[in-house]
Amino acid sequence: MSQVVLCQVADGVAILTLNRPDKLNALDHAVIDTLMALLDGLEADDAVGAVIVTGAGRAFCAGADIAEFADIVAQGTRVALRDFVRKGQHLTARLENFPKPIIAAVNGLALGGGCEIVEAMHLAVASAEASFGKPEIKLGFPPPFGGTQRLPRLVGRKRGLEMLLTGDAISAWRAEQIGLINAVVPADHVMEAADDLARRIMAKPAAAVAATIGAVTRGLNLSIDEGLAVEAAHFGLVVPTDDFREGIQAFLEKRPARFTGR
Ligand code: COA
Repeated sequence: MSQVVLCQVADGVAILTLNRPDKLNALDHAVIDTLMALLDGLEADDAVGAVIVTGAGRAFCAGADIAEFADIVAQGTRVALRDFVRKGQHLTARLENFPKPIIAAVNGLALGGGCEIVEAMHLAVASAEASFGKPEIKLGFPPPFGGTQRLPRLVGRKRGLEMLLTGDAISAWRAEQIGLINAVVPADHVMEAADDLARRIMAKPAAAVAATIGAVTRGLNLSIDEGLAVEAAHFGLVVPTDDFREGIQAFLEKRPARFTGR
């Protein structure tokens, strides 16, 4: 049986490739469960400093697997919420809260749940040939993997609602313009651009990277006062680390810092 998600680690960067190209990498239970298990392993692996997620074939991900969830939602609200919505929301929350930088390398279309996983990841670079859209409305339902919440927070309420209510896809350039992704690059440079971004971050102390991700992710939806408390708590986590002392000391001694990850 072919693997539905491939995992390859090179020099501390893990590449997860959604691998159902004949179904445009649609997210079925097997893909979601495999992704969740791989993320558990990559979190625990100290040799891994960053994760890149991409798609095999012409698509990044065409969303939740419609054939699979058709059977699930046909069983009524309780089963639909348990086996479809909750599963997808767990995946996007896991990506959003992952303590190492996780970067979408969007090689092609990112629709529905495919767009939702991009919204949830920390950073995203896309091929000039990629497109992004929320076609769920055309199927008769609102996006259930966080799309009604994260997209308007990322791109603004009116831009988000335009995508959510029309279902029309936007280009990679437009996605960059409205803040859904960080950069657009030629198709054959997507992985290189994602890898470059990963390595620029991995050169920084891992504890500070994790604390920054945690503070931003947890603080974003809080009041500023609550967010500042979250920021202070995350700052407190790095104070005892060797890398924090080394960063300051290296600056004072006018030399490059030598971070050890401790
Ligand atoms: N779920 C399950 N299967 C999907 C899928 C999805 N979200 N998106 C694509 N596929 C499958 C197609 O059924 C087809 O399978 P088949 O060859 O066994 O029939 C295969 O992937 C290729 O897709 P196809 O529709 O033939 O390609 P296309 O280039 O003509 O169209 C899309 C591409 C993306 C426009 C079209 O596949 C589509 O509209 N997909 C659904 C997108 C969507 O609504 N996503 C949100 C779901 S919540």
